[in-house]
Parts: sequence; structure tokens; C-alpha cells
Amino acid sequence: MKQIYIIALPFLVGTTPLQAESLDFALGKALFDRPWTSAPASTQATDGLGPLFNARSCVSCHPQNGRGKITKDKDGAIGGIGYVLRLGNADGTGDPVYGHQLQTNAIHGQKAEGRVFLKNHTYQLIDLAYGPMDISTRYAGRLSQPLHGLGLLEQVSDETILSHADPDDLDGDGISGRPNIINGQIGRFAWKATAPTLRIQAANAFFNDIGMSTPVHPQHAGDCTPSQTDCLNGPHGNSPQFENLEIDSQMLNLINSYLKGLRAPVYQPAEGIDLFKNVGCASCHLPELPLPNGDVIHPFSDLLLHDMGQALADGIKEGDADGQEWRTQPLWGSQETKLFLHDGRAKTVEEAINWHGGEATKAKENFLALPAADKQQLITFLNSL
Ligand code: HEC
Ligand code: HEC
Repeated sequence: MKQIYIIALPFLVGTTPLQAESLDFALGKALFDRPWTSAPASTQATDGLGPLFNARSCVSCHPQNGRGKITKDKDGAIGGIGYVLRLGNADGTGDPVYGHQLQTNAIHGQKAEGRVFLKNHTYQLIDLAYGPMDISTRYAGRLSQPLHGLGLLEQVSDETILSHADPDDLDGDGISGRPNIINGQIGRFAWKATAPTLRIQAANAFFNDIGMSTPVHPQHAGDCTPSQTDCLNGPHGNSPQFENLEIDSQMLNLINSYLKGLRAPVYQPAEGIDLFKNVGCASCHLPELPLPNGDVIHPFSDLLLHDMGQALADGIKEGDADGQEWRTQPLWGSQETKLFLHDGRAKTVEEAINWHGGEATKAKENFLALPAADKQQLITFLNSL
């Protein structure tokens, strides 16, 4: 099985214990790569997809453990690799019919929920198969995120995260990060920090993206709502052999081991870090975070939520995160990024900075006021991460 261990990209060098060498990591990778099929299949170990889903495997949305791409089909509907449409409203509930995500695929005999078109940053939904959406439902794109180094972010202590929070901006610097608290735990993963652990994030992905039950979300029809009766009554792969689930605890734990073992990009100190700090980027994109074991990591995030202003707002509440709040996206690995921000709307780091508003307005203005040479140095620095 040795060959499956070779996953490291050249820029991924270890700061973590080499979990990548464990058998659990290899088995987890096999599950991460596995295309799930609809039930009943010849082997119960691979069935349970859907009935509604976005993609059949984790890897199809996180190719090489990286970020997705936005593509258009021949009619101009957008989709692509790792791009989904989140549904919700200001109260934090999903659409009464379509749930929390638009599932654009369905197994044989079932109807996909619809298709998405994007014109001038405005979404249009067509072919909605289950009637109109609720008038209060908002929708917004979410591009998949890179997965390297997440095991290290999981190790950062709650105390460290909370030490940077300043919800009422008591220090008056205009920056007031706060944690997203999910069932009493600090959220760390996904664009609005909705998942406290990688295991929960993997289960959320099975639920929303693939339509499979796990110990965390035992519903075999994933994001289908009570009004989607065909989906609820559709075939499923829950089986006694797997704790009456489609993905049992052992499988979920193996995927968790895989995610934990993905190493972080190496940080090489470079010119430009001083500018990064001076203009105020480092107030949220913390260059250094200590781990309980004494190591220091360089994710360029505080894992907190910030109000990023109207231009980035999606009006969707997720956990405590309101429609204008986003988790500071880690900047490590930016050299690999082709599309920035939660919905991939920015093609360069400069464009990404231009979309910053709310608590980040001052830092953006400081950036825009830099002499051309300094601006370039800061951009080069970001592209080196
Ligand atoms: C249909 C595409 C799709 C599939 C399939 C998918 N993901 Fe994702 N993944 C995404 C998107 C989109 C996000 C961002 C979600 C959000 O912010 O709500 C994400 C986020 C994540 C994150 C959080 C990254 C971070 O920086 O916080 C992890 C971890 C993850 N996915 C793991 C998985 C695993 C494990 C699987 C398989 C069980 C999986 N994903 C399947 C699209 C997908
Ligand atoms: C108030 C906190 C805050 C400050 C200050 C801030 N950012 Fe951000 N940054 C964020 C958040 C939150 C996101 C994610 C927003 C989204 O996806 O909608 C983000 C996203 C980004 C991204 C896109 C990352 C990706 O992988 O998609 C880049 C690049 C970036 N910031 C660079 C900067 C730079 C450079 C500065 C300083 C000029 C800066 N930021 C200042 C909070 C901040």
C-alpha cells in the first residue's frame, strides 16, 4: 500500500508529527477518494449516495486537497468542482423545502433541486424541481477550501483563540473578532467557522454534499426536508453492518485521521511581512499562533468571525455568524490559490483586498494608500505564502 502515501505536494513539508505515515491515514485517504454509489449496490461498503447530492466523493470537490474551481456548463449554468450554493436566512434556518444547500445532482429516479446561473454577481436559479423557494431564503456561493494544515488549526487551544476575541471592541481599534459557538464548542472550520472539529466538518460534508448518514447526522437522506418525500423515501444504504448508518464511526474516524495528517505549507519569512503588519492585515490574519506543545504555526488567521461589510455579505446566518460575518480565511498556501474569497469572486489577492470592508476597511484603505513599490512588495509577499 506504500504508493498511496505519496500525497505531499512539493510545498507541503512537515511541521506536524508524520501522521501521513500511519495506516489510518492511508485508509482515510481511500475513503476520501472513494466515489459513493446509490443503494442498493453490490457492496454495502460503498453505497448510500444521495438521493440528492452535489458530488459523489470528497476528492471531487477538493482535488489534490486544494480549492475548487467554478465552471459553466454549455447553457451557462455554474457549478464545477467544489462550488455549492448555500441556502438560508437571517434567522439561521434553511429553506423550508430546499434545506441548507441546493443539491444539483440526484440518483436515478429522483429530481435534482435546480441549477444556478451567475450574472454580475447575482444568482439566478432555474429548473427548481420542488416549487418556489421561500421568500426569505437567501443564497450564496461557497467554494471549497484547501485542506492542508487543518489538523494544526484543530490543535490551537480555545484559550488562544479567545485571547484574540474582542467582541465589543474594547481596545477601540475597529476590529472586534468573536468566535462562532456551535453547540458549546468554538467553530473553526468552513467559511463561517460552523464546524468545531474536522470530524464534524467531514460529517457535515457527508450530510450536505454527498447525502450520507454518519454518527453526527444519522439522517440517510442528508439535506432533504420533510416536504421532499420522494427523497426521504428513496433508497438508502443504512445497514446493520455499519451501525445502521451509511458511514459508520470507524469510517468517519479514518477520514478524520486523513484530514488531521495533511501537512501545512511551509512558511518562509519574507520581506513584506512588516508592511502586512503595518497596514493592519495582521490584526485578523495572525502570522503566528502558538500550539499547546510549544510549536508556533503560521496560518495567517485568528479563526474568529469578523464583520466584513455589505459587499461581502450574504444575509445568511450560520450558527452565531450573521450575514456579514466570515471567519478570517487562513492565507497559508495562497501561492496555490486561483480564486479567492468564500464564493471565489476574486482572481487575485489585490481584488480580494478590494472586497474587504466592515472591520477591515481601515486596513484596506492603508493598503490602497501605499506607494506603488510597497503595494507590489505586499502582493508578492501574499503570493509567496
Ligand atoms: C460538493 C463539493 C464538496 C464535497 C463533495 C466535499 N466538500 Fe468539503 N468543502 C466544500 C465547500 C464548498 C466547503 C466550504 C463550506 C462552507 O464554508 O460552508 C468545504 C469545506 C471543507 C472543509 C473545511 C476547510 C476549512 O478551511 O475550514 C473540510 C475539512 C472539508 N470540506 C472536508 C471534506 C470532506 C472530508 C469531504 C468528504 C466527506 C468533503 N469535504 C466533501 C465542498 C465540498
Ligand atoms: C477585520 C479582519 C480582517 C482584516 C483586517 C483583513 N482581513 Fe483579509 N480576510 C478576512 C476575512 C474574514 C476573509 C474571508 C472573507 C470572505 O471570504 O468573504 C479574508 C480574506 C482574505 C483573502 C482571501 C483569502 C482566500 O484564500 O480566499 C486575502 C488574500 C486577504 N484576506 C488578505 C488581506 C490583506 C492583505 C489584508 C490587509 C490589507 C487583510 N486581508 C485584512 C479578514 C480580514
